[in-house]
Amino acid sequence: MRRHQPLSQASLGQLRAELALNRVEDLYRGRGDKFQWIVLADAEPAGWITLVVTNWEHGLAELGYALTTRYQRRGLMIQGLNLLLADLFFRTSLERIEARCSVENTGSQKVLTQLGFRREGRLRDYFVLDGRRVDNYLYAILRNDFVPPRPV
Ligand SMILES: CC(C)(COP(=O)(O)OP(=O)(O)OC[C@H]1O[C@@H](n2cnc3c(N)ncnc32)[C@H](O)[C@@H]1OP(=O)(O)O)[C@@H](O)C(=O)NCCC(=O)NCCS
Repeated sequence: MRRHQPLSQASLGQLRAELALNRVEDLYRGRGDKFQWIVLADAEPAGWITLVVTNWEHGLAELGYALTTRYQRRGLMIQGLNLLLADLFFRTSLERIEARCSVENTGSQKVLTQLGFRREGRLRDYFVLDGRRVDNYLYAILRNDFVPPRPV
């Protein structure tokens, strides 16, 4: 999970406290700035998705996401992000959702492209990973870019 992104350490207690601050109803009322979801696979926690709203007035937000190793490469994150994007574009006033990933993270780039995100630029030396600075790509999806998944 840490191969392509810097993650800070957190205890279970810290995670629980942070999750308890989540007020998803705020999201649908157009307020609040950080929201988190646990991705479940067969009722087991498999990863998470974070949404940071950077500006409600202009409808701007950023997504972060990760799956634990055993749940990677099963097509889970595309399903999870598709559900969330549909919810965000149908039930909130967000207009533009960004995501960033290391230029070496081909899995994440494929996920974003398949969801309809477009690559908009390269952010030089964006974060530190294993002691070296790594460039990131900036991706974004607009309300009008999003094609809702067909029901299965
Ligand atoms: C990157 C990540 C979100 C992809 O989600 P996923 O559900 O595993 O992705 P999928 O199973 O839908 O795979 C999508 C594509 O990416 C490829 N892929 C997935 N993980 C990959 C990896 N680690 N290395 C290379 N390719 C990978 C798959 O082979 C697939 O390619 P295809 O469309 O050509 O068949 C997930 O693997 C993950 O959480 N990784 C660790 C944390 C991370 O990198 N988070 C994102 C930070 S920006």
